[in-house]
Amino acid sequence: MEPTALERAAAVTAETRARIETLKAERDAVILAHYYVEPEVQAVADYVGDSFYLAKLAKSLPQQTIVLCGVEFMGESAKLLNRDKTVLMPEPAADCPMAHMVQRATIDKAREEYGDDLAVVCYVNSTMEIKSWSDVCVTSSNAVKIVRELPQHHILFIPDRNLGRHVAEQVPEKHVILNDGCCPRHEAISLAELRELKVGHPNALVLAHPECVAAVLDEADYIGSTAGIISFAEQSDAQEFIIVTVRGVLYELERRCAGQGKRFYVTSTPPTCSDMDGITLEKLLHCLEFGTGAVEIGVDGASAKRAQLTLDRMLEYAAR
Ligand code: 13P
Ligand code: SF4
Repeated sequence: MEPTALERAAAVTAETRARIETLKAERDAVILAHYYVEPEVQAVADYVGDSFYLAKLAKSLPQQTIVLCGVEFMGESAKLLNRDKTVLMPEPAADCPMAHMVQRATIDKAREEYGDDLAVVCYVNSTMEIKSWSDVCVTSSNAVKIVRELPQHHILFIPDRNLGRHVAEQVPEKHVILNDGCCPRHEAISLAELRELKVGHPNALVLAHPECVAAVLDEADYIGSTAGIISFAEQSDAQEFIIVTVRGVLYELERRCAGQGKRFYVTSTPPTCSDMDGITLEKLLHCLEFGTGAVEIGVDGASAKRAQLTLDRMLEYAAR
């Protein structure tokens, strides 16, 4: 039988853990990991969280080196918010395909049409360049709140059409214009397989990430970020949950709900993110040892400054 996420994490040896502690001390480093990465990596990280938590936290840490176990936009955001620090990524090739799914022409056209009454709202799953074209950044944990509070009536939401549609439904007073991007991993989760799981587990609550397609979200009892899904399951009185997002969240779910007898089911299309899967314990050790995978912000300082502003605005709005 396949080991559970908790068993995999427990298998990390004391020797490996000690080696990581030594390397961290030598480099004055702190390890941040997203809930989607392998359980072994989450188990040795100092902090694990969703995209918003990681971006916000990176700004408040005293260490000189941030090791970001996640995909490129996460490392880039950490660097944009902490220009004087070294940000290392164990697997610099880990990229989020959705982060590239918008054309500049889409933004120019909307700005031309709606002028000052348009806000370009950019999901944090986006490149630095795309952030630099935008007015404010959001994550899945604060998109609804921020869009609701923006003074503009017209909102161009990029790049994710699924999160954008979810926001539009929650904030009907705004005119939300969608862009045709999506997460290929969440899009692959079909309504048919969700329904099949529901038939097998009729008492289970469905907890879904807003990157899923509308038909799947329509069946959800709770829609939220990875952190939201985990907290919901932990606090719920229910015993069974169908988790509709990348299965990396199972480690934190199992860890937080240990001893509660709760059961978690995932769809039969294995909802994995091959980019997140590329971040292994071996690569983390290598990166800590040799200082590889440093995130560099390109020579175009103006773009970086504008991209940083969109992230700063997100942090300001989220704190209100
Ligand atoms: P969260 O912000 O919910 O962690 O989501 C990040 C992500 O990439 C979802 O696919
Ligand atoms: Fe990007 Fe989807 Fe992977 Fe999240 S799960 S990092 S949105 S490809």
